[in-house]
Amino acid sequence: MSLILGIETSCDETASAVVRDGRDVLSNVVASQNELHEEYGGVVPEIASRAHVERIAPVVERALRDAGVRLADLHAVAVGNRPGLIGSLLVGVSAAKALAWSLGVPIIGVDHVHAHLYAGLLRDGAAQDAGTATTAAPLFPALGLVVSGGHTVLYHVHDALQLERLGSTIDDAVGEAYDKAAVILGLGHAGGPKVDALARGGNDRAVAFPVSRVAPDSLDFSFSGLKTSLLYKVRGFPGQELAPPPLDDARRADLAASFQHAAVAALVMKMERALDRLASAGTPARTLIIGGGVSANSKLREQARQLADRRRITLVIPAMRFCTDNAAMIAGLAHARLARGQSDTLSLCAVPTTGA
Ligand code: KG4
Ligand code: ZN
Repeated sequence: MSLILGIETSCDETASAVVRDGRDVLSNVVASQNELHEEYGGVVPEIASRAHVERIAPVVERALRDAGVRLADLHAVAVGNRPGLIGSLLVGVSAAKALAWSLGVPIIGVDHVHAHLYAGLLRDGAAQDAGTATTAAPLFPALGLVVSGGHTVLYHVHDALQLERLGSTIDDAVGEAYDKAAVILGLGHAGGPKVDALARGGNDRAVAFPVSRVAPDSLDFSFSGLKTSLLYKVRGFPGQELAPPPLDDARRADLAASFQHAAVAALVMKMERALDRLASAGTPARTLIIGGGVSANSKLREQARQLADRRRITLVIPAMRFCTDNAAMIAGLAHARLARGQSDTLSLCAVPTTGA
């Protein structure tokens, strides 16, 4: 049996969790800083790192208390040490080092983006809300898609620790495009989930937004054209006299639905392409693994299910509370490293960029 304490501070969530044997989440504490960044319309790095400093100790204490675990019971301390805001990462890495050193247990650094793909393997006491990977069937090789506020990446996943990047966004991440769409539609900061909710009441064919292909065979993504297109629909095309229709509730819902339709269509198109690519290379994917904040999106979840059914492959997608940033996914992926005899030393660094 292994008990790993996870710590996650890469952006604006201070999080800690205790995970048993890489699967069972005994506690999952996430302190969001949304209220601190709201008035600036985006995450302010200096404010984020100061808030992490204030919150990290109580958040770790709470994670241990919720799990009913003492510090002395821990077998390792895991931390997301890359990628992210450097000041934010440093708080988590320093806290993890202090704990690992004082307890005399290994410290394990993991890549936050890779950890998002581990989130669908987590489960907890509430079985109905467990991730979808509950069978013992072999998962790999798999196609992985991470869709978050900072990243949109496709991977050929050989196993939890070996990921080969197939493509990524050349401009905005899809979550970032959702957040900017929310601002354009007047829904405020960190509004991705609000766009999703609003879209449910709108007509997704009301406005034909561009679905970016990037290039005929490309597995890269581009979302900045979609965002600009929405901006022009709301504010009018620069230099054109014609005023756009008034942004009433019905129009707002139609724009949200049409935006969501185009964003998800781009993701599905690239997943289809990547599945074809893997199949023709003789390594067909057994599984489609999705993670990251936007994996909470209702339309993406519905379309991913249909895609997996069409292709007769398994879909692994996290339970809702493990989609956005959390430390359970960090502890989970760290378990995979520990099981292979891998750990780090106290010279572990915070690194702003991702490994692959
Ligand atoms: O993974 P995450 O918590 O942070 C990063 O690693 O970036 O992802 C946060 C992103 C935000 O952009 C947020 O708006 C988006 O995920 N998000 C959603 C939904 N829930 C969260 N976007 C669209 N629909 C949702 N339901
Ligand atoms: Zn994330």
